[in-house]
Amino acid sequence: MTDSLTNTKHQYDVLIIGSGAAGLSLALRIADHASVAVISKKTLEEGSTYYAQGGISAVLKPTDSFDSHIQDTLNAGVGLCDPAAVKFTVEGAPSNIQWLIDLGVPFTTDQHKNGKRDFHLTREGGHSHRRVIHAADATGQALATTLVNHARHHSNITLFENHIAVDVITGKKLKLADNRVYGAYILNRDTEKVETFKSRFVVLATGGANKVYLYTSNPDGSTGDGIAIAWRAGCEVANMEFMQFHPTCLYHPQAKSFLISEAVRGEGGQLLLPNGERFMDRFDEQGELAPRDIVARAIDHEIKRLGTECVYLDISHKPAAFIKSHFPTIHKRCLEFGFDMTKEPIPVVPAAHYTCGGVKTDLNGRTNIDGLYAIGETASTGLHGANRMASNSLLECLVFAESSGKHIISQLNEKIPMPAIANWDESQVTDSDEEVVVTHNWHELRQFMWDYVGIVRSDKRLARAKSRVNLLLKEIDEYYGNFRITDDLIELRNLAVVADLIIQCAIARKESRGLHYSLDYPEVSNRDNATNTILRPR
Ligand code: FAD
Ligand code: SIN
Repeated sequence: MTDSLTNTKHQYDVLIIGSGAAGLSLALRIADHASVAVISKKTLEEGSTYYAQGGISAVLKPTDSFDSHIQDTLNAGVGLCDPAAVKFTVEGAPSNIQWLIDLGVPFTTDQHKNGKRDFHLTREGGHSHRRVIHAADATGQALATTLVNHARHHSNITLFENHIAVDVITGKKLKLADNRVYGAYILNRDTEKVETFKSRFVVLATGGANKVYLYTSNPDGSTGDGIAIAWRAGCEVANMEFMQFHPTCLYHPQAKSFLISEAVRGEGGQLLLPNGERFMDRFDEQGELAPRDIVARAIDHEIKRLGTECVYLDISHKPAAFIKSHFPTIHKRCLEFGFDMTKEPIPVVPAAHYTCGGVKTDLNGRTNIDGLYAIGETASTGLHGANRMASNSLLECLVFAESSGKHIISQLNEKIPMPAIANWDESQVTDSDEEVVVTHNWHELRQFMWDYVGIVRSDKRLARAKSRVNLLLKEIDEYYGNFRITDDLIELRNLAVVADLIIQCAIARKESRGLHYSLDYPEVSNRDNATNTILRPR
């Protein structure tokens, strides 16, 4: 870094990195009180939020209860949820859904026999009640479009699309004695220049890390950037071994792991072997609606046992009009690949879907660095434990956007002097001579993570993965030090960091629990005294 100090035009009260449900909800919660910048590495809409299908869980009917939602969440998390985080999230759900309704999210309604309309609630795995509010099977699109529309029209929110965060700027990095964040270095992908953003509060809302696996339901940007950035800055990271595989993604070479919502099973869809036999009852008494870890493992087991490429999901016993009205997006997409779900079973396989662990935070989204917050899929709040229950993720984005927003607003009047910050220094680097290094390492990483750190793990597989990731980390570090950064290099560097965190956590857990299953330790070691895996940077 040189001595040339920044005279940046980018100075805001709050810098939010990420424009999904978490980032934009927070922006809207605080924009009447603070100047806000929202950074998005592609368009504002592009992120997992936009692709969410099933919906958002919340207790919205008198026949349901907070206790029941809490208990279901705790059961899915297999002893590792923080009960305070679960209660906080579940109780925050109804008012947050009302907030979305007030913003205009077009949730699906149902006409009752008495002629009244009410919100339709669907059911998903692990839930003992119908409590998932949704916009047909494209909840994320409805949510993202509404949030983006409001954010675009708020005069206190400045939006930066096509900007990718490289690292946060902390007191430690500036060699100060404090433990505070002061902003971030952001690569403007249009100008290819790294710009300095100064801010007293920085929020990481960058989504999950599921692109670390070869097959994933996630969009390309889910490269764990916020988790890697936080780790490099000195934040604690928790429970990264609990990567969730969604049981049912469409199996077709061109489908790019298109998700078939759990709501299809919630509305009666049955899982079948290639010979038409149902099998989930052999694995769990809840059958197709068992928690995701159990269903994904059962499918993986049957695929390997039979040497087949996929299993099948069948809802064709329901009336075609019902299927088309509940699942218009999925129906249309399947037709494009030649499968008519109103008439026949559709081929499905599991794929990496959700990062249950992440940057460790408290109930206000605070990390262990002052002024630095993490919310949404990037965070580990204690809600999910060893396995996230369906549709609790968007809920967590909303509830923690609200709580972190309140916490930030309560500190806006505090005087926090901004130190001198040096410009990003490119004087020692040149343009890359061989981009193939980036693409090769990218593929290698995602392949060995799929093969060795997937649904079923073992000591041997994890050791293999660890030695490979060590080599990659070293190679990528050297490359990063010598060549001008690009968005691909930023993402690859972050993927390698999160892969290493996942492997470290998986090696540390000497048992099988929730999403972490090891052939060497097939049992839950101690149900009553479960511990989270917490990594602390050295
Ligand atoms: P995202 O929505 O992923 O947004 C991340 C944002 O961060 C993006 O704007 C991205 O551009 C930005 N970003 C990332 N890195 C950087 C960087 N370095 N610099 C700048 N910007 C960056 N959950 C449910 O609860 N219900 C569902 O029905 C449901 N269905 C799903 C269906 C699919 C297909 C998928 C993939 C997920 C689904 N999930 C569902 C999970 C849920 O959608 C996500 O967990 C949630 O949307 C995450 O929101 P987020 O705001 O944390 O991140
Ligand atoms: C789905 O619709 O199956 C996804 C729900 C979720 O991930 O919560």
